[in-house]
Amino acid sequence: MPFFDPVESGFYASCLENLLADTRLGPVLADGVVELGAGTGIPMIEALRRQESAVPVRGFELDERSSRVAARIVEKSGLANYRIVHGDFFAGAREGLERCAVGNPPYLPARGHSPELWGGDTGAEISRRVLSAGFETVLLLVSSISDPVGLLDHAQAAGYRVADWMARPIVFGAYTRDRQVSGRVGELARRGHAFFTHDRYVIAGVTWVADPAVPDGSEALLRVLTAGRAMAIGGPGPDEDELGSPATGHAARTTREVVGVGSARPGGALPAAAPLVR
Ligand SMILES: C[S@@+](CC[C@H](N)C(=O)[O-])C[C@H]1O[C@@H](n2cnc3c(N)ncnc32)[C@H](O)[C@@H]1O
Repeated sequence: MPFFDPVESGFYASCLENLLADTRLGPVLADGVVELGAGTGIPMIEALRRQESAVPVRGFELDERSSRVAARIVEKSGLANYRIVHGDFFAGAREGLERCAVGNPPYLPARGHSPELWGGDTGAEISRRVLSAGFETVLLLVSSISDPVGLLDHAQAAGYRVADWMARPIVFGAYTRDRQVSGRVGELARRGHAFFTHDRYVIAGVTWVADPAVPDGSEALLRVLTAGRAMAIGGPGPDEDELGSPATGHAARTTREVVGVGSARPGGALPAAAPLVR
């Protein structure tokens, strides 16, 4: 089944929209965008439409059925600048002129019942590969249950600065409550590599640029991503009982501050919204 979660995919669409609207990125975007994992294609279609953007986009989708569905939806949309490519992003994305890569990559840290959403042993392996591919600008959805600290360190070591981000809570759903996945998330939490409360975690849309002159926004982003203190999905609440000393050494805000406000952006919280479910 093609992946589509109305709220998570909708959040990804909003992040894409922000990217397309960022005038500082105009010259980079003019050379086109490559996408890892188009899914149904709907998030990118929504973003391009809302911004009335003519940026050319190649959306790679590994799963054959998803790519067929996406190609049909794109055709119906009438958008001439979005092309679905059935195949591996890592095999074809660097063949073009694009300097910008985007995606809501698979981030589950165990295969469970949805192997197409498996992001390797920490959940962050596919994202790390994107950040090692040499793009000038990268926008990825990052999850707090998939070694966010290691991923941000990896990006920094690859020469990236966090130029922009926005984050929001997401309620554990069928994919993450899968026995294998939740067991692995608990293991990662005990080692300081996953952060969540008993019923929700955080996802962030992060834009990195390979420009050492850009001020780096990692610190505030990490505070939001590492605030959760639970050790097991569905474990004991309430949130207050799960708060402890930070496992990573990063200054942590309370879980309530992070997951209770709806959305967060550098510079201020957006209006509260219903939590996502994955
Ligand atoms: C979490 S889903 C996101 C789908 C869509 N972007 C959305 O947000 O609704 C991740 C997608 O990435 C695809 N995928 C995983 N690895 C890929 C790769 N190496 N190249 C292209 N697509 C890939 C999966 O098949 C899946 O459809």
